[in-house]
Formats: sequence, C-alpha cells, structure tokens
Amino acid sequence: MGFVKPFVETLELVGWTREMVTKFGPVVRVWNFGRPNVLVSSSDLAIALKKLQKEGAVDDKSADVKDFAVAINGIGLVSLPPEVHTRHKKFWNPFFNWRNIESILPDMQEEGIKVVNQLEKYAGRDSISQCKVFNLPPYAIRATFNITCCTAFGKDFMDTMSDDTANAYIHDFHTVAVNLSRRAFRPWLNKDFIYYSTPEGRRTKRSAERGASLMKEAIEFRRNLRNCGSNGGNCIQGDYKCFLDRLLDMKEQGVLNEAQIVGELNVFVAGGYDTSAVVISLVMYHLAIHPDHQEKIVQELQEVLGPDFGSNNNYPLTWDIIKNFKHLDLLYPLVPVLPRRSTQDIKLEDGKMIPKGVDVFILTDIIHRDPKYFEEPNAFKPERHSGTPIPSFMPFSLGNRTCVGQTMGMVTVKIIVAHLLMRYVWETTETKEGFKTLFQTLQVPVSVNCKIRKRTM
Ligand code: HEM
Repeated sequence: MGFVKPFVETLELVGWTREMVTKFGPVVRVWNFGRPNVLVSSSDLAIALKKLQKEGAVDDKSADVKDFAVAINGIGLVSLPPEVHTRHKKFWNPFFNWRNIESILPDMQEEGIKVVNQLEKYAGRDSISQCKVFNLPPYAIRATFNITCCTAFGKDFMDTMSDDTANAYIHDFHTVAVNLSRRAFRPWLNKDFIYYSTPEGRRTKRSAERGASLMKEAIEFRRNLRNCGSNGGNCIQGDYKCFLDRLLDMKEQGVLNEAQIVGELNVFVAGGYDTSAVVISLVMYHLAIHPDHQEKIVQELQEVLGPDFGSNNNYPLTWDIIKNFKHLDLLYPLVPVLPRRSTQDIKLEDGKMIPKGVDVFILTDIIHRDPKYFEEPNAFKPERHSGTPIPSFMPFSLGNRTCVGQTMGMVTVKIIVAHLLMRYVWETTETKEGFKTLFQTLQVPVSVNCKIRKRTM
C-alpha cells in the first residue's frame, strides 16, 4: 500500500512506479488523493487481465484518462463508455484495412523523401565528426503529422494548410498534453472551475479550442468539395475515402452528429501522428547507437530494392516489400502505463480481489522488462519479436481498447525509417546515461540529437 505523491514531476512518474513496485510487490494498492488505485506490474497477471479484458472485465478507461481525453479531443473513441465504444469501434476498424493503407503508401513515401531532403543541410560527406548536430523529433513529427492529416482530411485540405497552421496545431497539442499530464498530480486543480481560472488552465483551454477549430475548418472544406461533387484530391485508388469522408457519410445516415465528427477526427489526428513520430525517434536513437543493426537493415533494403535503393524519383516500397521486411519490425513500446477501470470484481490467482469500479494501472514499462519473458530485458534486441509472439508484450495495448491504427502506425514507421537509412548513416551525440524520456501519456524523448553522413551507394 502506498500513496500517490503530489508534485511528482512527470519526468519522475515511471521511476516512482518502479520504486513502489520494488517496495510493495507486483500488485500495489495506492491511495490517489482519496481514491483507491491498483498498480499491476506482474507479467502473468497482465496476461490474465488480457484474457479478462476480452471478456469485458477491465474494458473501461480510468476516470482521469477519460477527462484528459475529452479535454484534448472532445468526445471521441478514447473517452466513450464501453457500450458506445464498441459501436464506434466498428466503424473505425474497417478504415484501417490493407487496401486502404496500400492506397496511402505514396503519400507516406512522399513524406519520407521530404524529410530526408530537409535533413540534407546537416549531412556531411566524409567525416561524421564535422557534421552539424540536429534534434530529430521535430522532423519526425512534421512527417507523421502530414501523413495522418492527409489520411484524415484528404490531400486537398492538406495542400491548403500553411506551415504556420500545422506548426501551431502541433505546438498547441503539445501544450495540452504536457499541462494535463501535470494537472493529474495536482489534486487541488481537479475541479474544472478552479483549473480553468488559472493562467495555465486558460492557456490549455485556448490550445484545445484552436485544435478543435482546425477540425471544424477541415470539415467545412470537405463538405464544400462534396457539395461540388469533387473527389477532394484524394490519392484515389479503388474506393479509398479519407476518414472524414466516412464520418460525413455517417452523419448523412444519421449515425453521428456534428460534435461527434469533430471529436472522432481529433482522436484520429492526435492518436496518429504523435505516437508514430515518437516511435520513429526512439528507433532512430537505438539504431544510431547500434550501427550493426543499422547495417543489417540497409543490407536488406539493398537486396530487396536493387537499383531502386535510395532512389528519390519513384515510390519503391510496395505493400509486399513492406510486409516481408525481416529487420524493420522495430517497435519501441512507448506507452508505459495502460490505465483501465474494472467493470466487475476481479479475483486474482492469489485470492486477492480488485473490486469493480477501481482504476487499474497496468505498468507496461515494467512488464516489458520482465526477464521471465524478455532475455536481457534492457538490451535493444528487435529480433526477439520475430518468432512466436511474447504473451506479455502489449505495445498496442490489449483487449477492446487495443490500438485501431496499429497497422498504419507500423507502416508509417517502416517507411520513414527506411528513407532515413537509405540516404544517411546515423550517429547520436546522446549518451546512454544522459538519454531521458518524459512522461506525457507517451514516453517522449527529451531530445534525440543526431549526426548524419550521406550514404555512399
Ligand atoms: C506505431 C504507432 C502507434 C503506437 C505505438 C500506438 C499505441 C497505442 C496504444 C498503446 C493504445 C492504447 C492506449 C490505452 O489503452 O490506454 C492506442 C490506442 C489508440 N490508437 Fe494508437 N498507436 C500508434 C498509431 C496509431 C495511429 C496511426 C492511429 C490512427 C491514425 C492510432 C489511433 C489510436 C486510437 C483511436 C486509439 C484508441 C483506441 C480505443 O480506445 O479503442 N494509433 N494506440
């Protein structure tokens, strides 16, 4: 039994949960400012919960997370109660089928080419030691933002969006995520009327409102195009429709109202770009400190692509090639805690009980380092995921709340990483000891400072 410390800085949160688990064991009851929470860090229990989740026992999100999701996105998939969530997920899932993702491959590759061109100014030709250092995440974010928005709103709207608008949205989203993560550990700011009367609360609200107004602008734009009978500049292949088109179809059928369209669209953009960009940044950091693995991937790309390797003039990464890559399945789990709420009493194997209605935090950061399932748990060993799936590995969460966009996320990561490696050799000036991540619902690297040299073919 422990207590949640007020003032835990978000940077320290994961360290604090580790401390609690070391002191009190794999299942810890914690008083969270008057409410009981349970921290779960046992792999076997997480596997058991995975099964229970399928049966709906921990199907709901924790209360704090729902408030957080509503403040960021408005009402959308993440914040819906179980019964409505299941209904909405049914219209989300088919959007991410193979055919749709194949249709957006050219857009993804275009962003891959754009980002390597933007980095050209940092690239040395001979000695990497004389190259300029740059921080990778802002470049990764801009690439994944463009991909996600193109998929969400259609290409036409993206072509009208200025750099300033895109950067302002990214900045606002970051402000809201950081401020609301901090708010969770300041119980005196719990009530909305108190929080939104503080200067930070007002800034957070303004940022969230600006995010929603971008969604409204996109909706208006798309509606006008539909009224004119235009296909809206989609990278049309077959019957591909952007996500917003599907939402507007559902509004016309009376399934969704206007506020729900704004909410779902916001969830799509917010859930899509930041996650993929963080994975790309973390993967590139690890590849920069593991040149052997970097070379393995490059060798495979060279073998598969032949003369198309590193070519800027076409889109060489076809669906078949992406599916069959051996060395690019580099998923770095970035969500350290899965927040859930028990929807029925859960009896644990040792006889203990998690009662209904309790917030349960599944500490994946610890579970993913359990030596029982992960040999050399702290080593970068992507090959550990190439065989039989590890039952306690849950980078895309578990059960009904599992990530809808996982295929799109993984394909985005593979394509951007492939482009970054085809053009450059990567090193980092980060040290293993100095490399820090910050908890903002995701485990976000503070910086990934890199140096690059042009790859000679
Ligand atoms: C490699 C990239 C990605 C990773 C690692 C990732 C990871 C996750 C995780 C761990 C969750 C569950 C969070 C929880 O249970 O609390 C989640 C949920 C979600 N993700 Fe992703 N994600 C990625 C890409 C995407 C993309 C590209 C999209 C959409 C464009 C997306 C949309 C969503 C949505 C809508 C949910 C909520 C699902 C629900 O509540 O049922 N994600 N993601």
